[in-house]
Amino acid sequence: MPRILITGGCGFIGANLASMLREQGHEITILDNMSRGRKDFLDDAMSYQVINADIRDENLVYDVARRQNAIVHLAAFGSVVESVEHPEENFSINVEGTFRVLNAARRAGIGQVIFSSTGGALIGNAIPPVDEKSVPRPISPYGASKLAGEGYCCAFANAYDMSITALRFANVVGPISWHKKGAVTAFFKAIINNQPIRIYGDGSATRDFLYVEDLCRGIISALEARLPGFNAIHLASGREVSVRSLAKIACDVASSPDHPIHFDPKRKGEVERNFATYDLAKKELGFLPAVSIEEAMQLTWEWFRGYEGGGSG
Ligand SMILES: NC(=O)c1ccc[n+]([C@@H]2O[C@H](COP(=O)([O-])OP(=O)(O)OC[C@H]3O[C@@H](n4cnc5c(N)ncnc54)[C@H](O)[C@@H]3O)[C@@H](O)[C@H]2O)c1
Repeated sequence: MPRILITGGCGFIGANLASMLREQGHEITILDNMSRGRKDFLDDAMSYQVINADIRDENLVYDVARRQNAIVHLAAFGSVVESVEHPEENFSINVEGTFRVLNAARRAGIGQVIFSSTGGALIGNAIPPVDEKSVPRPISPYGASKLAGEGYCCAFANAYDMSITALRFANVVGPISWHKKGAVTAFFKAIINNQPIRIYGDGSATRDFLYVEDLCRGIISALEARLPGFNAIHLASGREVSVRSLAKIACDVASSPDHPIHFDPKRKGEVERNFATYDLAKKELGFLPAVSIEEAMQLTWEWFRGYEGGGSG
């Protein structure tokens, strides 16, 4: 079974992915600087090699990469809103960091890299549904940094004959997300803490929500497919859900249908409407999301209830 390095493997998606890959018999190494992730997010930390390091330390990444067959690059500065406040740090981690990982992979002779890109933030305010032919016009530094990352992925795939697939994730929902800053985490924490749910804008903004297990199955299919050259592929649910309906689903699954909702001014950097088609992912990877938003929210709520008190805020 191939040895796989997951950068950012102690975060939300990484911890879910590591567990699924290990169950398939893969030997997993995780490189994470623990800025957002935690070793105890991993289901059985002893079964992985966990290296506490920064992706921008290229020589260290190179040393680790030499023992691997593929890299799944998830480590990032992941917040749209925070990228508007801290564009320099976002650039450093997402653009320079991605370059360092790709260059370490090139030097180490790793033929395959999966890059965690994004759908909505990269494309910007286009009329949905978006797909791989939509022209990217990011409206946040985060979206721009992922577009720059895709640019380097395309260049490295072509210049150095590597298989590099940029997977454009939708908004991911699921367990191990207590530390995240997105709407689902904020809504569930508000319900648990008996505070009003806060919606930025009038709630008509839309997103495409994908359950983390569906997403990880897509990542694993991309690893198995090892598509030649560079490819950018949306991993999405194909369903448009407004933030207001998301709040309603959160209240329903938490058995708190009348939970108060406050509306605050909308924030810079966030797109108005977004959802993507997954036709290309279906064709190239056999990707077919199986979990509805209602089920995804139910499963995520159950995890939040179980984790309550285990989180730090
Ligand atoms: N969660 C989503 O809805 C979503 C949507 C689109 C794209 N993505 C992308 O997926 C990837 C994973 O996201 P996530 O939701 O698991 O985020 P996360 O914050 O939970 O995980 C990111 C991990 O990267 C680590 N990290 C950050 N900077 C690092 C650095 N300089 N060196 C080493 N490690 C570093 C953090 O400690 C964390 O464990 C990111 O690239 C993100 O941009 C996520």
